[in-house]
Amino acid sequence: MAQLTLTNVRKSFGSLEVLKGIDLSIESGELIVFVGPSGCGKSTLLRLIAGLDEITEGTLEIEGRVVNDVPAAKRRIAMVFQSYALYPHMTVRRNMAFGLKMSRLPRAEIERRVANAATMLKLEPLMERLPKQLSGGQRQRVAIGRAITREPAVFLFDEPLSNLDAALRVATRIEIAGLHERLPAATMIYVTHDQVEAMTLADRIVVMNAGRIEQVGTPMELYHRPANEFVAQFIGSPAMNVLPAEEIANGNFGPRAKTVGIRPEDLRLVDSEPLITGKVLLVEQLGEVTLAYARTETGRSISVKLPGDHAIARDDVISIGAPLEKVHCFDQDGLRVSQEEVLTET
Ligand SMILES: Nc1ncnc2c1ncn2[C@@H]1O[C@H](COP(=O)(O)OP(=O)(O)OP(=O)(O)O)[C@@H](O)[C@H]1O
Ligand SMILES: [Mg+2]
Repeated sequence: MAQLTLTNVRKSFGSLEVLKGIDLSIESGELIVFVGPSGCGKSTLLRLIAGLDEITEGTLEIEGRVVNDVPAAKRRIAMVFQSYALYPHMTVRRNMAFGLKMSRLPRAEIERRVANAATMLKLEPLMERLPKQLSGGQRQRVAIGRAITREPAVFLFDEPLSNLDAALRVATRIEIAGLHERLPAATMIYVTHDQVEAMTLADRIVVMNAGRIEQVGTPMELYHRPANEFVAQFIGSPAMNVLPAEEIANGNFGPRAKTVGIRPEDLRLVDSEPLITGKVLLVEQLGEVTLAYARTETGRSISVKLPGDHAIARDDVISIGAPLEKVHCFDQDGLRVSQEEVLTET
C-alpha cells in the first residue's frame, strides 16, 4: 500500500531545469502511466521517486511521510528498466534471489518469494537457465519477477517493453495488466512511448511536456476531452488534425475557437457539404483500416483513417466531413473550448 504525493517537485542538472514544478497525487493501488515527448523528464521523475537522484526542490511524500532524504533502499520501491540488467553468470533463480540474499532475508522466506514470483509470471520452466539462454521477453519477465520478490509498495517501470518485438510486447503487456490485478495493493508507475500500452494499462495517464504536466486523466478523458492542443495531438495515432478555424468550411465554432481539431478516425468521406477538401498524397492500406494523407488547398496536412479497405488513390481529391460532436475546439492559448459553448454557436 502506498499513496504518493508530489508537491512542486523540481529537478535541475546544473543550470538546466528539467522538471519545472510537478504536482501529482497517486492513489494506493493505482496504475499511472507517464507519457510525453523524448526528453520531457519522464525517466528523471521516476528516478526521483525511486530515490536514485535527489529532488532539487519540492517534496515527495509516500503514505504522508516526506521521503526526500530517505535512501532508495528504504523506500520499498522496485524499478524495472528498459534493459533487463540481469547478472549474466547467474541462473534465473539466483538472479531473482540475489537482492534478497544481500538484504539477509531468511532462506525459507527467499524461497517462498522467488517461487511465488515464478508462479505469477510462469517462469518455473526457466529457473535454472542463464539469461543468455532466454528470449528478450523472458528476460524482461525475469526482471519483473525480481522486482516482485522484493514485495515493493511501488513498482516503477521505465519503458520495460520497448526492446521486445510486437508480439512479445502484447503478451508481456497482458502479463503486466494481470500483475496489476493480482497485486491490487501495489502502486505502479509506468513510462511508455506506446499509445496502446498507455491506453490499455493506465488507470490514469499523466501527459508531460518540457518538464511540466499538461493533463492528468483516465485514458478516455484524455481521448474525448483533451485539455489543450498539445494533449489532443499527443494522445491518439495518427495524431489529431488541428486546423485554423477559418479554414474549415461553414465553420462557425464561436468567437473563442481559434483552431479546430478532428481525429483521423472521426473523419468520413462525404458527397456534399464537406468540412475540408484535400488532395491525396499517400494511401496506406492496413486491411482493417485505410490511412489517407491529404493536403488542403491552404497546404495543411490531413490524415484520415477509414474503416476497411477503401478505394482511394494518390491525387484523388476527397471531400471530408465529421459529426459535429467529434469536433474539438481550442482558443488562442491552445486551451479547450467546451463542447457546450461550441454547440450553442453552431
Ligand atoms: N544526469 C543528467 N545530467 C544532465 N542532464 C540530464 C541528466 N539526466 C537527464 N538529463 C536531461 O534531462 C532531460 C530529461 O531527460 P529524461 O531522461 O527524464 O527524459 P525522458 O522523458 O525520459 O525521455 P525519453 O523518452 O527519451 O526516455 C533531458 O533533456 C536530458 O538530457
Ligand atoms: Mg526516459
